[in-house]
Amino acid sequence: MPSTPIEWKNNKVKIIDQSLLPNKLNYIYIETCEEMFDAIKNLKIRGAPALGIAAAFGLYLGIKDFKTTSFKRFEKKLNEVIKHLSNCRPTARNLFWALEKLKDKVDQLKKYPINSIKGALLEETLKIQMEDNKTCQLIGEKGANLIKDGDTILTHCNAGGLATSGYGTALAVIFKAKEQGKKIKVYVGETRPLLQGARLTCWELLQEKIDVTLICDSMAGEVMKEEKIKKVIVGADRIALNGDVANKIGTYSLAVLASFHNIPFYVAAPISTFDPKIRKGEDIPIEQREAGEIENFAGKRTAPEGVKVYNPAFDVVPNSLITCIITEKKLVYPSYRKNIKKVL
Ligand code: MRU
Repeated sequence: MPSTPIEWKNNKVKIIDQSLLPNKLNYIYIETCEEMFDAIKNLKIRGAPALGIAAAFGLYLGIKDFKTTSFKRFEKKLNEVIKHLSNCRPTARNLFWALEKLKDKVDQLKKYPINSIKGALLEETLKIQMEDNKTCQLIGEKGANLIKDGDTILTHCNAGGLATSGYGTALAVIFKAKEQGKKIKVYVGETRPLLQGARLTCWELLQEKIDVTLICDSMAGEVMKEEKIKKVIVGADRIALNGDVANKIGTYSLAVLASFHNIPFYVAAPISTFDPKIRKGEDIPIEQREAGEIENFAGKRTAPEGVKVYNPAFDVVPNSLITCIITEKKLVYPSYRKNIKKVL
């Protein structure tokens, strides 16, 4: 397995601090809901499926020491913690999916003593984490069938082990293709402003001894024109019912470029990333992040004081630009509205 980004250890959540990679492989131990909120907000842990797991642990940490025997009071506290965690990052569907799953569990267990409800929440969280691993393996297997020996793949941001329970989504496809003995090369866009591609994806691919080349985001068109890229594969933060996909800012530009150059554009994501309440991409909430992420580069101010900054963390790829969505259940092709309904 490429990495273990999140683990339950000695009543604490142990995570890799992804904000320090690749220069430092530092683990931090999270003991409170507040610390988890901070870790998510500041991208110490990130990537949609990993955010689901982190939020679930955050919820457990937020209620585990709450002393009451009244279900009403417990439920009130639970709802407060859910509301709080729902405010840390708005786009990744998996974060809300995991919190909803835990809330459903509590609704089923209303009649039980509070301590056993708490225990069940931890169990459910560990189950979410374990199942994510199986899901990623399946995404890898399904997706690897699309990869030919000798392919060169372009990816963006980090949809690898770090962004999940350990095996990735877009990168799972690459890992599995390699396990199948296919020779593949990968180009990675650095992914400004926070460089998840350069820092995290390259780090993971190098560890797996996969042939990887780093490019600036603005070089994607050129490498496509030079016919270096055979496929684009990215992850997703949220997928609407019509197949529109929100993913890291820059994904839309890649999809437009891929379409212009007749390169297949694949999205790899678990079913938990589809939002049954969102009909189209325009309805997906897009996180706006601080100006400082763009005003500075590698800790140094690069922009002149006083300049206006626009910093959406994600963009939306319209379904018409997506060749297929790789899920753990099947490869979902257009027409998306009909086929997504079937797979959900
Ligand atoms: O801001 P981030 O780093 O959390 O953004 C992550 C992405 O955009 C990933 O591509 C997406 O969550 C898929 S992770 C399997």
